[in-house]
Amino acid sequence: MRIAILGYGVVGSGVAEVLKINAAQVAKKAGESGESIDVKYILDTRDFPGEDQKSKFIKNFEEIERDPEIKIVAECIGGETTAYDFAKRAILAGKHVVTPNKALIAAHGAELFALAKERGVHLLFEASVGGGIPLIRPFCGALLTDEVQEIAGILNGTSNYILTQMNDNGKSYDNALKSAQELGYAEADPTADVGGFDACRKLSILLSLATGKTVDYKDIPTEGIEKITADDFAFAAENGYTLKHLAIAKISAGGVQAVVAPFLVKIGHPMSTVSDVYNALWARAKTTGSVMFYGSGAGKLPTASAVVSNLVDIAQNACAAHIWTAERVKILPAEGFAMKKTFRIYEG
Ligand code: HSE
Repeated sequence: MRIAILGYGVVGSGVAEVLKINAAQVAKKAGESGESIDVKYILDTRDFPGEDQKSKFIKNFEEIERDPEIKIVAECIGGETTAYDFAKRAILAGKHVVTPNKALIAAHGAELFALAKERGVHLLFEASVGGGIPLIRPFCGALLTDEVQEIAGILNGTSNYILTQMNDNGKSYDNALKSAQELGYAEADPTADVGGFDACRKLSILLSLATGKTVDYKDIPTEGIEKITADDFAFAAENGYTLKHLAIAKISAGGVQAVVAPFLVKIGHPMSTVSDVYNALWARAKTTGSVMFYGSGAGKLPTASAVVSNLVDIAQNACAAHIWTAERVKILPAEGFAMKKTFRIYEG
């Protein structure tokens, strides 16, 4: 199975690296169905003179689109514009698409799933929520045979890293953000990370999966972490809390309530112990009860590993249909939280 990687940034180069590091395991797993996974093209507008896979680098997407040997396109460009254009064209050309791109899935999921279904290909997005945490598969598999009623998560690695560094190590917001960028956690433009929009898109993906309909991320009230100061952490600690950036939702017959914002979380609560780039997702379903997912929420190799796992899913023909329709769910503001100072208190 020959594949093309679109975008050789943090995740795209990570996919090439993981395919090398885990070559034996990937070959064994994919090989169970007689397939191997080989990178034929790497598309990027930039030059990478030092790279050993030089012959694979191309700049023109049409080469990929027209090459019948390419069965899967790993879209790692990010954003909603070029990524959308290329993902759609790849699907129209009969190629499977895997992507870690939450902006693409949150904005265009329903349309692209319908198109993929029509063309008989898969659009998989395991890495789009929770980075390296195997989350989408179990969420769609075990939990969606039940009725998901509540979700609470730390869904942005960059924000959680910044808050941890400010709280535990007394770093300034600016220095912590700089480190998050250097570590490859933040998006090229970190506005979506610190402004809460990245977590909001991830919540909308989970809610779209849970409801089977489109939850538009623009409908979810969202606040970021930009205004949090050392004084806020001191105030939280004096009262037995820490500050965490949470994505919260309740799904009931009356509708979906959701909010993404900084919350005061009691010190000692499991959510308060999720540090640095780690993400966590707690969900409660009607008969399953509570489950919690935890792991690296961002970073090159964890995220790339999740992308590679989707490549293997396709090679093994083991893809669940994770889709939602274009029908839009009405989002109600999540209300009724107790407050201290200007912060909501998480009492889950
Ligand atoms: N910038 C994202 C984060 C990457 O920090 O969580 C993973 O989606």
